[in-house]
Amino acid sequence: MNLTKKKNSLNKIKNILITGGAGFVGHNLALQFEKKKFVKKIVCLDNFQRNGSLNNKKILLKKKKIKLIKFDCSKKFKNLSKYKFDLILHCASDPSVNTDNNYKMFQSNLMSTINLLEFASEQKKKPIIVLFSSSRVYSINNLKKIKYKKNKSRLKILNYNKIDGLTKFGINEKFSATQIKSFYGSSKFSSEQIFCEYSKKFSLPHIINRYGIITGPRQLSTPSQGIFHFWLRSHIEGNNLCYTGFGGRGIQVRDAIDIEDVFKLLIKQLNKINNCQNKVFNIGGGLKNTFSLRELTSMCNKITGKHVKIKSVLKTHSFDVPFYVSDCTRFEKNFGKIKLKSISTMLKDIYLSLKS
Ligand SMILES: NC(=O)c1ccc[n+]([C@@H]2O[C@H](COP(=O)([O-])OP(=O)(O)OC[C@H]3O[C@@H](n4cnc5c(N)ncnc54)[C@H](O)[C@@H]3O)[C@@H](O)[C@H]2O)c1
Repeated sequence: MNLTKKKNSLNKIKNILITGGAGFVGHNLALQFEKKKFVKKIVCLDNFQRNGSLNNKKILLKKKKIKLIKFDCSKKFKNLSKYKFDLILHCASDPSVNTDNNYKMFQSNLMSTINLLEFASEQKKKPIIVLFSSSRVYSINNLKKIKYKKNKSRLKILNYNKIDGLTKFGINEKFSATQIKSFYGSSKFSSEQIFCEYSKKFSLPHIINRYGIITGPRQLSTPSQGIFHFWLRSHIEGNNLCYTGFGGRGIQVRDAIDIEDVFKLLIKQLNKINNCQNKVFNIGGGLKNTFSLRELTSMCNKITGKHVKIKSVLKTHSFDVPFYVSDCTRFEKNFGKIKLKSISTMLKDIYLSLKS
């Protein structure tokens, strides 16, 4: 009974639009959906502003069901109505917290969201719309109020349950998102609000997910984006690294989730789309998949057999936070328990892809 229901709801998804479709998340999801029999056409839009996104173009162009169009989503969408999309994944954004061009970032991130929603709301049959939001929507000052003790390799949280939204599993959706959160975080938080307005007014089924660090093969990593991938790549290439902030010891803690798991969890949500309305979901590696930079260094040493020079910068950047781990309890309550790839498997997979 349940299985039939499952099949039916996914079977309705034939045509998919992905903004930022040549980026790390967008192109990986395109490749995963492409394998599904029920999918007929995937249209990826990208303006290739991200260094490295052109490399993914070659991979996408090999797939018959995928059409890649060079397009800047901050402009009004055109010539797309003929596809009658059932699902739209909004992955286009400038995801850098330390951008040096705030105006351009806001224009790109916010206008892309508005144009996509205008397009979706004009469709006769309303598509499901998915926003790839971020843990960066949570207020930096509140994250900095988390008390911790430092041990050799990482921070240990002391005041669980003393701050709203900080639980023994990490940060849940009740954590404050009302104060300063970085320009990038604001662009994502505003996008969430705008998504909700359009969804309500035009009855658009929607999914809003706040992801922690997503990682996996072919990430377009830099020191400020895709740190997990960047750290391993730097070890392989023998590039020097730096522990920045929080005493310069590399003890800040994050979680990581693999892109294949992101896809699997999205499928769970698409199967129960009614459970996604009027809610946001934290999605990430959770407590089982956490690492500090120091621990990541040890894992990289082990897997590559290489050691690189690591500098220390004591000063903490105003946008940096000591701890972020996703409490995915709300997701699990709505869609069932989740079993994710472990940190060591993720690292091995990235290592193999970088070596090949
Ligand atoms: N990777 C992560 O760890 C992570 C974590 C949380 C949330 N997210 C969100 O997931 C989404 C995808 O992230 P990603 O890691 O793939 O980033 P990415 O930079 O690899 O991909 C984004 C893509 O969007 C394109 N793009 C940007 N502005 C555009 C525009 N105006 N028009 C058309 N294309 C445009 C870029 O060229 C790039 O190919 C983003 O919205 C990001 O905020 C990512």
